[in-house]
Amino acid sequence: MKKIKRSVLIFTLITFFTVFLILYHLFHKVPSVVPEYVLTYAENQARNYPTTLGAYYFADLVNEKTEGKIEILIYDSSALGSEPSVIQQLQIGGIDFSRISISTLADIAPPLHVVQLPYLYRDSEHMWKVLDGEIGQRLLTSFEDSGMVPLSWYDAGSRSFYTTDKPIRSLEDLQGMRIRVPESSLMEDLISALGGIPVPMAFDKVYSALETGQIDGAENNWPSYESTRHYETAVYYTIDEHTRIPEVQLISKATWDKLPEQYQTIIMECAAKSAEYERLLWKRRTQSSKEYVIKNGCLVIDLSPEEIQKFRQASLPVYEKYCSDYMDLIKEIQNLK
Ligand code: GCU
Repeated sequence: MKKIKRSVLIFTLITFFTVFLILYHLFHKVPSVVPEYVLTYAENQARNYPTTLGAYYFADLVNEKTEGKIEILIYDSSALGSEPSVIQQLQIGGIDFSRISISTLADIAPPLHVVQLPYLYRDSEHMWKVLDGEIGQRLLTSFEDSGMVPLSWYDAGSRSFYTTDKPIRSLEDLQGMRIRVPESSLMEDLISALGGIPVPMAFDKVYSALETGQIDGAENNWPSYESTRHYETAVYYTIDEHTRIPEVQLISKATWDKLPEQYQTIIMECAAKSAEYERLLWKRRTQSSKEYVIKNGCLVIDLSPEEIQKFRQASLPVYEKYCSDYMDLIKEIQNLK
């Protein structure tokens, strides 16, 4: 009898406690922080791409460090438009943040052409030595009067050509091929200098242009080639690594100016942390993208050093046209050990 009484008591207590917990969660409203600023961030890559993951990491960090006072909403996959139109929006404060390739930015801030010159860096390490050092800082001042404030450099690896019907095994093969390029004057001139026909086009239009035969090929890094599924139609990937085009995380100057100083400092610090994170993801994704496309039918073409030398030689007019005022800086970069 005593035993039964005890179990009834325990059962009642447990039931009471459970009901209490349920009611507590239903009716007890946790005071939520109302953000003072809800800001937009435009990204033209897919949700799981390294730069987009960097953006989410940045947004979370800023939210945490401002104790919920700044909320950043990420719009990926070109939801807010192509890079040139996002730049225009950033300049007038219509979009607050973005991560943009230097190839599109350099037409607005011309000294930046230097960092995207063909065959400028020996390798990735060399490029990061330049960007992380005093030269990189100096170059970021090119954004003065652009309506945008640079926050950090992001990695985008090296770019190579890929084609649909005919592989590029030599500079000869490239002659007369219609190659898509980003909306960038330097990239257009580079393709012409190499003997191809440049077709400037927004990033999200390339897949169907390859499929319909409007272009014979395009050029990009491994993660973009894989994530956009360009490898499905452009199966030949020729490793010529003609450029290494870094990217920049930016905030609209109009947005920057309305933020209190303590939030500006937090944003700068979080941008630097997100860049470190993106660079780590970038390395891993380059490797996995390469493996993935090869498994799925991509045919890789390696060029001999002699052939690459021909590409390098043919691209020299671009140095003259875009960077004749910066020859000392180019030397400085080339001599950086
Ligand atoms: C890279 C870069 C994009 C850019 C694209 C392009 O993928 O990350 O920002 O738009 O190249 O070729 O247009």
